[in-house]
Amino acid sequence: MWAGRFSGKPDKLMQEFSQSVSFDQRLWKEDIQGSLAYAAELQRIGILTEKELKDIQSGFTTITKEIESGKFNWKVELEDVHMNIESRLTELIGDAGKKLHTGRSRNDQVATDFRVWAARRADELDMATKDLLAQVLARATEQVDVILPAYTHLQRAMPVRLAHQLLAWFWMVREGSPFMHAWSQARMMSPLGSGACSGNSFGVDMTRLAARADGTTDDAIESARKRIRVGRSIGAFEFPSHNSLHAVADRDFALDLVYACAKCMTQLSRIAEDLILWSTSEFGFVTLGDAVTTGSSIMPQKRNPDACELVRGKTGRVVGHLMSLFTLLKGLPMTYNRDLQEDKEAVFDATDQTLACLRVMALVFSKENFKVNRERIQAHLDSGAGYMEAMNVADWLVLQGVPFRDGHDITGRLVKYVEQKKMRFADLTAQDLAAVDPRLKPELLKELSLEALVERKQVYAGTAKARVLERLAELKTWLKTSE
Ligand code: ARG
Repeated sequence: MWAGRFSGKPDKLMQEFSQSVSFDQRLWKEDIQGSLAYAAELQRIGILTEKELKDIQSGFTTITKEIESGKFNWKVELEDVHMNIESRLTELIGDAGKKLHTGRSRNDQVATDFRVWAARRADELDMATKDLLAQVLARATEQVDVILPAYTHLQRAMPVRLAHQLLAWFWMVREGSPFMHAWSQARMMSPLGSGACSGNSFGVDMTRLAARADGTTDDAIESARKRIRVGRSIGAFEFPSHNSLHAVADRDFALDLVYACAKCMTQLSRIAEDLILWSTSEFGFVTLGDAVTTGSSIMPQKRNPDACELVRGKTGRVVGHLMSLFTLLKGLPMTYNRDLQEDKEAVFDATDQTLACLRVMALVFSKENFKVNRERIQAHLDSGAGYMEAMNVADWLVLQGVPFRDGHDITGRLVKYVEQKKMRFADLTAQDLAAVDPRLKPELLKELSLEALVERKQVYAGTAKARVLERLAELKTWLKTSE
C-alpha cells in the first residue's frame, strides 16, 4: 500500500511482529459497513461515479460471502483487516477499489470500526447481564420463606431471607455492570472524516457519515425520523467527532467497556466465592448441579465448583486488561500511534471472558443447578451456633424502655451465660433469664425466634417478607421493561 515511498520490503520477522490481522479480522463486518457508508459519501460529493459505487457495493457483497463461508484468504503481508479487505476489493473490481481510501486513513477507519464493534459488544453484554439477573430473580421468588444466616466478618451475624440474599446479588450485578454507559460512550462520536488526524479535504459530511457508519441506510433514517421524537439518536453515532485530532487518538470508549467488564467480573467473582463457600460440606447451603461442577480424577467422592472457581480466576485476567489499557494510553503523545493497535486484544479478551462468565453464572443460577438444601440450612439454624437470636433480646429491651447500651450489656451477659452452659437460645427458660438480669422477663421467651427477628426488619430495604416481596415485584417490572 505504501510501496511508492519504500525500496525495500519489511523483514519477515517485522511482518509477523506488526500484523494484527490474526485478531482484528473480528472487525470485518464493521469495516465493510464503514467503508460502504464512506463510499456512498464519496459518490454523493462526486469523487466516485454511480457505477463505481455500485461496483464497490457488489465487491463488498462478494467479500462478505467469502468471509462468511471461510473462503476469504487473510494475508499476514497485508497487516490488518482494513488492508486485507481493501486489497481484495481492488482485486475484484479494479480502479474503483483504489478510490475508496480517498481522504480516509486507517486511523479514522480503525477508530470507527472499533467503536461500532464496542457498542455492539456492550449491548450483547448488557443482554447477557439481564439473562443472569432473570435467573437470580426466579430463584429469589422460589426462596422467600427460607431463612439463613447473613455474615459479617464471615461470622454469623443476622438471619435473613434467602431471597433477600439473592436480591443482594441481583443488585451487585445490576449496579456493577455499566455496559449501557460503555455503549453510549462508544457511540457518542464518529471519527469518520477525521482522516489521519486533521480532517478530510474533500468535504465529506461528517454528520451523514456518523449516522450511516454502521450500515444504517437512508431509508431507515427517513422512517426513524418519522417515528422518533426529535432529539433521539438515529443511526450509528450520536454526533460526528468535534475534533479530528481527538477522534483518532481517543480510546476512552475502550477503557469504559473494559472497566465495565472488570467491574462486572468483580461482582461475579464475589458471588462465585460465596457459592464456593456455600457448597462446601461445612456450609452445605446449596448443591451446584452436575452441569456446572466437575469430579476429581483421584477422589471419587468429590464435586468441585469449577464454574465458580473459573469465574473468580478469570476476574484477575480481566482486571489486568484494564490495567494494560491504562498503561498503554498513559504516555501516548497525540495523536494516533501504532501502540494503539495493542488496544484490541485487551478489549476482545476482556469482553469474551466477561460474556462467557455471565452465561456460565446464569447456568449456575438455573433451576437445575442451584439446589437449595433447606434441611441443611435449618439444621444450621437449629444448632443455635452464632447466637443470632441475641439481637431479639437487645431489640426487645429497647422496646421495654431500657437504653440500648444497657440492653447491649444485658444481652452480652445472656450470651455469655448461654455459652458457658453450652446451651442454645432455644433452650432458655424463664429461670435462666431471671438469673442473668431481672429485666429479662418471661414474655421475652416467645420473641426469641429467628423468624421474629427477620420480620422485625420492616424498613424499605429490610428482610420482612412484605418488604422482600415488594422489592421482588419492583425488580420483576424493571427487568421486563428494560429489555
Ligand atoms: N492496525 C492498525 C491499528 O489497529 C490500524 C491503523 C494503522 N494506522 C497506521 N497509520 N499505521 O491500530
